[in-house]
Amino acid sequence: AAAEKGGYDTFMEKEINEQPQAVGDTLLGRTDESGALSLDELRIPEEKLRQVDRITIVACGTAAYAGMVAKYAIEHWTRIPVEVALAHEFRYCDPIVDERTLVVSISQSGETMDTLMAVKHARDLGALTISICNTHGSTIPRESDAVLYTHAGPEIAVASTKAFLAQITACYVLGLYLAQLRGGVHADNAGQVMSELHEVPGKIDQLLHTMGRVREIARFMADTRSVLFLGRQVGFPVAMEGALKLKELAYIHAEGFAAGELKHGPIALIEPGQPVFIVVPGPDTPHGLHGKVVSNIQEIRARGARTLVIAEEGDEAVVPFADEVIRVPHTSPLLQPLLTVVPLQVFALELSTAKGLDVDQPRNLAKSVTVE
Ligand code: G6P
Repeated sequence: AAAEKGGYDTFMEKEINEQPQAVGDTLLGRTDESGALSLDELRIPEEKLRQVDRITIVACGTAAYAGMVAKYAIEHWTRIPVEVALAHEFRYCDPIVDERTLVVSISQSGETMDTLMAVKHARDLGALTISICNTHGSTIPRESDAVLYTHAGPEIAVASTKAFLAQITACYVLGLYLAQLRGGVHADNAGQVMSELHEVPGKIDQLLHTMGRVREIARFMADTRSVLFLGRQVGFPVAMEGALKLKELAYIHAEGFAAGELKHGPIALIEPGQPVFIVVPGPDTPHGLHGKVVSNIQEIRARGARTLVIAEEGDEAVVPFADEVIRVPHTSPLLQPLLTVVPLQVFALELSTAKGLDVDQPRNLAKSVTVE
């Protein structure tokens, strides 16, 4: 078993460390010599994809958070409206779907029953269906019109890590491809974004080498009863994923919020000593978002929160209000989740370990839920 874990104590640790490769491999072979995106593997006529006027992403758990990240990116690049539906809710909300709707399912296993049923329902309604999946030959890709595989390799730990990064990567690829097909404002930009994406695996690798302090913080927090996570724009799903990891692995009450929502309720939860992770957008994020999140940190700090700040290298504005600053390398704003989620994964892993729990097989959970 030790050999299977490649020298790591747990599969999850191994899989977290395989993330640079998961992202790199998922990008591989998806561009032609000129650097243009090329997804012949989809085998859907281009005219059909050009006609798409609405996208619905269906998924569960971590995969649904990948979908939420994708919404921001795909809408920005394609100007096609994107909705994210939890797969188990999709059928029951009388979904608005027709032949010009693209339903994208995201599933590591390809066997999640809730997601499968959503895909079948979408097909019955005439939608075009694409599966983003990590498992060759699994059911959801078979039941879909097309598949875009993530190349994360087998994921054994129940809580998803490398598959999540690969799912986000595949969504970016799909979004850029659709943008390129449809022309429009961001089509020319696709090559630029792709080259930034190609730099991400190296940056994740660099980041993984600086997790010592995160591990230390986690070990000190083994008795913590509640942790909050704040993020904004693409940082919002990252906050939710950070909270989910902590629930799954360490059985600690955790909640992720949109930072802007804080003043509309959750700020009442802040009392002295309450640990709060804040995912800070890069300083170059449009519309002054960075400054707004820095103000949020200031507000909760003034009320006694213990602020654990995830911010880009060189972002000095956060320093006066941070109890801890966890640095991530710079990348463009929409790609940031591929970096900012990593310390949150490591935090949950380490905290779970410090509590003596089984990180790879948390209680009550299954890797793939094949019942509705
Ligand atoms: C289960 C797992 C989660 C996973 C979800 C979706 O609940 O415990 O980690 O995110 O299923 O799985 P899928 O295979 O469809 O991505």
